Parts: sequence; C-alpha cells; structure tokens
Amino acid sequence: MTVDTKIQYSRMGARLLDHVQNGTTDWAVDTMEVPSTEYTDPAIWQQEMDTIFKTLPILVGVSQEIPEPGDFKTLEILGIPLLITRQKDGTAKVLMNVCTHRGMTLASAPCGNQKLFSCPYHGWTFKSDGSLRAIADAPKFGEVCEGARDLVQFPAHEEGGLIFAVLNADSDVDIREYLGGMMDDVAKKGMDQWTYVGNRTIYGPNWKVAYDGYLEGYHFKAAHPETIEPRTFTNVMEYDAHGPHQLVGFAAKNVTSLEEVDRDDLWQHESKGFDFIRLFFPNVSIFIAPEITQIAQMIPGPGPMENTTILHFLHPSPPENDEDVTARVEMADWLRDVVQDEDYNIGLQLQKGLQTGLMKSVLFGRNERGNQYFHRCVKWYTNRGEETPKPEL
Ligand code: FES
Ligand SMILES: [Fe+2]
Repeated sequence: MTVDTKIQYSRMGARLLDHVQNGTTDWAVDTMEVPSTEYTDPAIWQQEMDTIFKTLPILVGVSQEIPEPGDFKTLEILGIPLLITRQKDGTAKVLMNVCTHRGMTLASAPCGNQKLFSCPYHGWTFKSDGSLRAIADAPKFGEVCEGARDLVQFPAHEEGGLIFAVLNADSDVDIREYLGGMMDDVAKKGMDQWTYVGNRTIYGPNWKVAYDGYLEGYHFKAAHPETIEPRTFTNVMEYDAHGPHQLVGFAAKNVTSLEEVDRDDLWQHESKGFDFIRLFFPNVSIFIAPEITQIAQMIPGPGPMENTTILHFLHPSPPENDEDVTARVEMADWLRDVVQDEDYNIGLQLQKGLQTGLMKSVLFGRNERGNQYFHRCVKWYTNRGEETPKPEL
C-alpha cells in the first residue's frame, strides 16, 4: 500500500470518528437543485448513453467470471451484444458477439469454455481472439482478405479483478489513465485472486436514480431500518474523489472502538469501524465487507427509466467447508434483497414522482455531497467541448 492511500484512509477514518462524536457529516458548500427532467427526458438519457456509456470505459465483467483460457461470457450492454473471452496468454478480449458475415448473434450461451465459435446461420467459425478461422464452403463464397472480417474488438483493460472496455472500437481513450487513482486503490485489494461466489441480476430505475442510492447514507435509517441501520450510522459520510470516481466512507456503529487507535494507523481498520464504497464512474459500486464483497455493475436501459444491475459477489479466500458455502450464498441473497427490495424499489417509486412532470427539481442537501459531485460530473461529460472546468470534489 502506498503512503498516499494510507494517509487517505486514515484521514477519512478519523473524520468519520469525529463526525460521530460531533454529530456532523462531510458538507458541500450549499444545497443543489437538479431538474427532474435530468432523470426523465429521453433526449438527455440518449445524450448520456452516447457521451458517457459509449465513450468512457465501463465495467463489462469481472475477471473471475472467466478465469481459465477458453472461458467466455456473453452479455448485452446498450443493445450491443458482447463476447468476453480469456486467451491462452491470460489476457481478456472484449469482442462484439456478432458474426461478420451477415450479423447473426454468434454465441448464445451465457458462459462456457470453447476454442472456436461457430455461427448458427451459415457456419462461419471464429477463434476466441475474434479472428475469422474459416468461411463455410469457402471456394464458393469468393475472396475475403485475411483480417478483413474478424470480430469487432473493443479497447479493454483488465486490472484488480475488473474488466473495463470502451464500446467504441475506434476510441483512443486511455483506459488506465481514466481509471486513475481509484484503480491504484482497488488493484491493491487483489480481487483478481479472490473466489467468485456468484452473481444476482436485478432490475431497477434510471441509472442515475440507482447511482444516487449508492452515494449517500442519509437514507439508511428510514429505508433500511432492519438491514443497514443496525450496523451503520445514518447520515454520517465522508467523501473523496479520484477524477469522476468516488471513495465514500460510512461510520459503523462500532466506530468508537477506534478512539484509542493512533490516527495515522486508522487505515488498517477499514471494515472494522468504518466502511468504504468505491465507485467507478459511471457504472460500478464496490462494497468490501468482511463477510462478502459486492461489485454492482449497472447497465442502463433498454429505456431511460430502467437499468439492469448485475451484483457480483467475491470472497478473498475459497470456502473451507459446506457451512462457508451456505453462509456466502445467504449473504449474497441478503445483499441482493437489500438492493432490490429496498433501494431499487424506492428508486422506482421515486422516479414515478419525477415522471409526473409536476415536481420541477430534486434537491440534494449539503450532506449529499457525493451526489452533488456525481451530477456535476454527468453534466461535464455530456457537455464536453464547452469551456467549463472539470468538476472537483
Ligand atoms: S451470419 Fe454468420 S455465417 Fe452467415
Ligand atoms: Fe440503500
């Protein structure tokens, strides 16, 4: 761990302790209004999809979903069918799951292990690196230059157990630079070596309604009285950012047990008095807890008022016995229920209120500092080209 991360964690831990003792929380300079149409207008949503989700690096998968050479998974993001494959050399490729003959979906299984992919329409075959291996009945087809009809491949970067890609094959975005300090932080966790417990898919509201829910703990007492609230203080947050990505700290009910700890050593007490949510803009929220780690991968659409979220669950070590396996499955189900039945259910009702068109704006408090920053980042990315400075937390 670099000195910087130690200082950052220790400072945030100390401030969370102070907030609990003083009845305070991290504060923005003012409250902030966001027009309701920012959530509901289909034209704004489409602009966000074009300028954010199809332009910036987004999480497409978790490394441990495809650990072995030949492993693959398929999924669809924003109407783009993806085929993510593990190569012999251990790297991952993010390909478009569309046959380059006439456009048929190539692989239909959600996951598996195979060297070759054969198109179900006319039988062209492709290697798992995306190259065209054979044209069915080639002599009758006509000349095709080598490399000319390989699968579309997207720029990708895998690190820290996460696979990011830009869904624009011509993009020159530097993915590692974009992930920046947040990836330095996450990579140190070594999640690429962890055990994949499984995933759960849930359906929820507009992507920003959903993202807002991961950013603040103001709602814990009212919305999670029996799940989160017994464990974590309501409305005690601390925010830090790496570019558009955020590190959000929450104080656990046992945070005062850290009073005697030297403040410079607090970094060693993550998950033992305070917790962090790590958010990569625009579609990832990572919650590392002692029992299990949840990586929420948010996929907007198909329309403005919907998102699909894949909750991936990981654990630092393999299960030692059947009880371990059961406990992890139960914990994954429990977290899925919290996000689905509490957060996303509220989000769906909330956006119904916004869709009436009769409430002109939502209002974020000074305490909802991370939400304010998130909405400023969305505006900045959707309006890029204007001479406005990039937002800072
Ligand atoms: S569309 Fe795939 S082989 Fe024809
Ligand atoms: Fe919540």
